Amino acid sequence: EAAPLAAAYADYFPIGAAVEPDQTEGATAELLKRHVNWLVAENAMKPDAIAPAEGTFTWERADRIVAFAKANGMGLRFHTLVWHSQTPEWFFRDEAGQAMADETDAAGREANKKLLLKRLDSYITAVVSRYKDDISSWDVVNEVIEPNDPDGMRASDWYKITGTGFIETAFRSARKAGGPGLKLYINDYGTESPEKRDRLYELVKDMLAKGVPIDGVGHQTHINLEYPSVESIIESMEKFHALGLDNQITELDMSLYVYNDLSDVGPVVPEDILQRQAARYGELFAALRDRKELLSGVMFWGIADDHTWLSTFPVERTEAPMLFDRQHQPKPAFQTVTDF
Ligand code: G3I
Repeated sequence: EAAPLAAAYADYFPIGAAVEPDQTEGATAELLKRHVNWLVAENAMKPDAIAPAEGTFTWERADRIVAFAKANGMGLRFHTLVWHSQTPEWFFRDEAGQAMADETDAAGREANKKLLLKRLDSYITAVVSRYKDDISSWDVVNEVIEPNDPDGMRASDWYKITGTGFIETAFRSARKAGGPGLKLYINDYGTESPEKRDRLYELVKDMLAKGVPIDGVGHQTHINLEYPSVESIIESMEKFHALGLDNQITELDMSLYVYNDLSDVGPVVPEDILQRQAARYGELFAALRDRKELLSGVMFWGIADDHTWLSTFPVERTEAPMLFDRQHQPKPAFQTVTDF
């Protein structure tokens, strides 16, 4: 049997996995118990999962993940208080039921902004109050940067209605409800690309200057066999570290396909691809060990190849982005990551 993954990294950082509530039982649960010491909910703690209506909370699925982590001595991340996706409509409708983003009247827009920020504060206060003693690292906002949108800020309902007000309110509310013990992150993908990284850096600097309590940057790190370079991943973390911030790798996986390639390797992953993946995973983890002062954790977005969002994105096809295969056996990449 393979030596435990997280144990191999005990001197470096926690190693985690994203899970669905069902995976806290059965074969996946056993794999998790052996190999990781950190968990995050893949979907169960997103706004649409927790708050189907204003003031109505459905905690059961999220609680199952928390209970499993606690029972097995694992830490937790929270994903995610604020996002443009998987967020119920009720946040963005005014008292008359109209979409706030459509309001053109200045006074109406001001009232909408106030109402939305008040809802956000109530929501965050409720969620943080419930989990503050169990969860230490929190994605407060997710994916707010979009270099192709005006100002480089994603033109989400949040941004259209409040400007960057939602970011300020989200961090301040989380800090207020959770206290200084919580580590609060701004999370995004593509943070290694200079364009995205530099816009994110600018935003974070601006927020810090206003006293907004941001503790770190979450780097999703959905990478593939070729892109981005390991150097660019490290460089981005260096940049935020120099600002006094922590970094976490929050959603690591490695697709077999480069961007825009819609091909399929077929039902069985060819050995040479598994070897390329192993070499690249090995290179990445060697660099992370080497620069462990830059980060405080590595979270995989899944644990084994039998469950990954990539198997349907961007098309349905064979994917194998994790360190364990569909039978939960360690892959060549598991060896290169643990053999040091
Ligand atoms: O819960 C419903 C279920 O009731 C329904 O029967 C089923 C039919 O399609 O859909 C289920 O919802 C799906 C949900 O995952 C739970 O399985 C959604 O369709 C599906 O879109 C959703 O995908 C998730 C995706 O976020 C949504 O944007 C993926 O599982 C999840 O891995 C992915 O995670 C994101 C991170 O939050 C942010 N960073 C990128 C990452 C990958 O996209």
